[in-house]
Amino acid sequence: MNQNKLVFANWKMNLNLDNATSLVRDILDRLKNINHVDVVLSPSFPYLSAVHSLISSSKISLSSQNVFWEEDGPFTGEVSSEMLRDVGCSWAMIGHSERRQHLLETNEMINKKVLTSVAKDLRVILCVGESFDQRRQEKTYESIADQLQRGLRKVDERFLKQIVIGYEPIWVIGSGKAASVDDISSVHNFIFNELKLMFPSSELLPRIVYGGSVNSSNIEDIVALENVNGVLVGNASMDCDKFCDIVMKVEDSK
Ligand code: 13P
Repeated sequence: MNQNKLVFANWKMNLNLDNATSLVRDILDRLKNINHVDVVLSPSFPYLSAVHSLISSSKISLSSQNVFWEEDGPFTGEVSSEMLRDVGCSWAMIGHSERRQHLLETNEMINKKVLTSVAKDLRVILCVGESFDQRRQEKTYESIADQLQRGLRKVDERFLKQIVIGYEPIWVIGSGKAASVDDISSVHNFIFNELKLMFPSSELLPRIVYGGSVNSSNIEDIVALENVNGVLVGNASMDCDKFCDIVMKVEDSK
């Protein structure tokens, strides 16, 4: 099993070509000596090729922020797994809460995306997380279990090594304040146990990473937790110093 921790940069719908290019150049320069962390950059669709040509001779990988489940056809505006592979993606992010909320993605749509992406040899980060209301109503675990069970429905065990679960409590994304280490720890342990129940005969389970206001001050406490196999970073990933600091602290946590 890949024991490396993962640091995944989600730039969302931010940065233009010039900003993205100089950020990638600076990151490459600063992260030459990272050996035990898988670093993945996820720019928006139009910049995938440009970022790929900058990182292609490094160990950094490229992810899309979305993917469609069909291979081709009349699906205006959508992008297939093969198209993503063509422009250098080895990863696809699926089910981010912002897509569930603004694009009305359902667990059934997300499941179809997971199934086709892994079959096409993409690695997948499947995002799950509870809303503030769900947490307030003590429905966090119920909601996470539902997203996992429906998102991973019919996924064959042999694909589990291609999958990472991104736990992102919706109410802390972009807030500047991460969830408490106790909350992160108990949800990650819950996800780990849930995955064990779903795939009882698999020796290998998906890595589980935390996202939501991760920064260079809270990263050490978060990544030290059991069943936290890395982080998913939004705002701080668009600042070279902050992002590289996070990656280096994760490298040192080994
Ligand atoms: P922030 O790090 O800005 O809270 O974003 C988290 C996120 O949504 C990553 O996918």
